[in-house]
Amino acid sequence: MTDNQQSLTVRDNRTGEEYELPITDGAISAKDLGKIGTGEESPGVAVYDPGFTNTASCRSAVTFIDGEKGILEYRGYPIEQLAESSTFLEVAYLLIYGELPTEEQHEKWVHEVTFHTFVHENLRSLMQGFRYDAHPMGMLMSSVGALSTFYPEARNITDDDIRHEQIVRMIAKMPTLGAWSFRHAQGKPYVYPDNNLSYTENFLSMLFKMSEQEYNADPRLVKALEVLFILHADHEQNCSTNAVRSVGSSQVDPYSAVSAGIAALFGPLHGGANEAVLKMLRRIGSKDKIPAFIASVKNGDERLMGFGHRVYKNFDPRATIIKKACDDVFEVTGVNPLLEIALELEKIALEDDYFISRKLYPNVDFYSGLIYEALKFPPEMFTVLFAIPRTAGWLAQWRELVDDKDQKIARPKQIYTGDRHLTFVPSSERWA
Ligand code: ACO
Repeated sequence: MTDNQQSLTVRDNRTGEEYELPITDGAISAKDLGKIGTGEESPGVAVYDPGFTNTASCRSAVTFIDGEKGILEYRGYPIEQLAESSTFLEVAYLLIYGELPTEEQHEKWVHEVTFHTFVHENLRSLMQGFRYDAHPMGMLMSSVGALSTFYPEARNITDDDIRHEQIVRMIAKMPTLGAWSFRHAQGKPYVYPDNNLSYTENFLSMLFKMSEQEYNADPRLVKALEVLFILHADHEQNCSTNAVRSVGSSQVDPYSAVSAGIAALFGPLHGGANEAVLKMLRRIGSKDKIPAFIASVKNGDERLMGFGHRVYKNFDPRATIIKKACDDVFEVTGVNPLLEIALELEKIALEDDYFISRKLYPNVDFYSGLIYEALKFPPEMFTVLFAIPRTAGWLAQWRELVDDKDQKIARPKQIYTGDRHLTFVPSSERWA
């Protein structure tokens, strides 16, 4: 240990031994703790941390969050500036490759992504095989996983060129697969990509185009979607990113790893929350029902969906930007009647000691669902709209993981609480 190295001194009261553990970047190594034992046979001290609430699983230079101050930065750039002045594809490049692209790199990147938007016709048939009412997230998860069978070379995860090709394919094809999962439930024909359109315009075209030659979305809606995509592009070590990293640590191909991320995002405590918010607002139905609803939340019978965050404990900077985007969208679509209930709910909750004392504030999902509904998306599509841009973050994190010499296959410990040394009695005797 060097002289100016920070350290932690731990005294093991079982043995009286003292240990000096180096502190690096604010963390001690769990491996060092493992050296603290009571003897040769002792397993050493482990860390019990369900949900990884205070465990760093990697070193990462992708996204910075200060939950107390409400700061979110991608590769050092504040989210507010990126949402205001950048595009989703530029942000995706920044996240994945670590630097803002030069003009030349940007042109090549946009060209590559634009020309990989089509998917193999067999994948289209696979999607058409789903039941008429299949959840679009289930369809997206399966079709992204299925992409690995179309590109078996993707298993070569250490070759930079091959890796780049899969990254381009995934960023390019996600809107196609997402839009088709939406059209499927509506019984409408799948719309092929239009490479003359921008990333978000093309997505809107594949979602909503019918018989017109070209689908021209309102530029205010295109801009709002672009902002939503930027806000959702990454969020450091959340549940789905952890899933991508954990599955990716087995050195599987990136399609399989991202498919695991989509599965994690599907859950109502993660990306499914905006769908849950909408359902909650509909269930509340009118402003006069809010006090009774808040009472049931405080009783522990309900959760106020779209409130609270594992990291943000004062405000979620994405929620502030989204609230602004709501106004732009409602200017085009007319105000969503559920907005009134949401605003009142937020006002009451922010003044109530239950929420204040637990540091529960609106998160990104509280308002995003209202925008999505105004854009005529059914709630089942909301998480798909999250998964498409988050693919950029998943791939940035996956790429970082693959290059990280410290990483090993993810394999947490457990504290075993079950029986031991039982004697098996065959069923013929047990049931006699
Ligand atoms: N409504 C009511 N009470 C809540 C809520 C909520 N939304 N969130 C947390 N609490 C309470 C808990 O009951 C707990 O109270 P207690 O101390 O009396 O037991 C306390 O606040 C701490 O909550 P935890 O669940 O321990 O906090 P955690 O950090 O594990 O959970 C989470 C974070 C999952 C986001 C949680 O706040 C939640 O369930 N929110 C609603 C779902 C949601 O909006 N998810 C989207 C998150 S953003 C995203 O994924 C993009």
